[in-house]
Amino acid sequence: MTENGGILISFEGSEGSGKSTQIAQLADKIRAAGREVLLTREPGGTAIGEEIRHLLKHADAGFGMCPETELLLFAASRAQLVREVIIPALKEGKVILCDRFLDSTTVYQGVARQLSEDPVSAINSFAVGDAMPHLTIVVDVPAEIGLQRAAQRASDLPDRMEQENIEFYQSVRKGYLILAEQMPERFFVVDGSLAVHDVADLIWAEVSEIFDIG
Ligand code: TMP
Repeated sequence: MTENGGILISFEGSEGSGKSTQIAQLADKIRAAGREVLLTREPGGTAIGEEIRHLLKHADAGFGMCPETELLLFAASRAQLVREVIIPALKEGKVILCDRFLDSTTVYQGVARQLSEDPVSAINSFAVGDAMPHLTIVVDVPAEIGLQRAAQRASDLPDRMEQENIEFYQSVRKGYLILAEQMPERFFVVDGSLAVHDVADLIWAEVSEIFDIG
């Protein structure tokens, strides 16, 4: 928590983990407890970030993008989000819930795309500066379940990031679990294959206790 009560919580997980549903549920609970909540998503969350999101996910020009460019574009979107949205909101004492943050880059570009750890870590640090999450919640589901859910939900064709094979998403999942093991003080892993309200209860128990909300 910052000096004036600002809290930065990031949500992570592979495709179809259910993190967006959980973010909405947690936001409702925090608001009901009387705190102001700000929701962000990555890539995106600013005018510049939303343009980058389009390039990364949907634009024809994005297909054929090399992994190094992908890494830098995700970082560029995050650098803007941190300075335009997150830091001001922390200064105002808000609770910020981020749908993905720097750990997505570590796992998707570092682990799954197999870019070297040192540049990924250095670029992540450059993009976020001091704005590190106070808590990171990983909504964990087996890749097979996540992909099934994502396919059921998709109203149109999968975007560029959703066209990888099962091994890619298995390494994403493994990457998150390894990060959580390495940094237990920042990470909370929740079983996303449980019923939605059970997952929400587990997350609320953790958040309300750590930050003394509610
Ligand atoms: P989503 O908004 O539906 O979660 O889509 C974002 C996609 O971008 C998802 O496939 C994860 C991927 N991603 C990365 O590869 N690296 C990143 O740093 C971020 C934020 C997302």
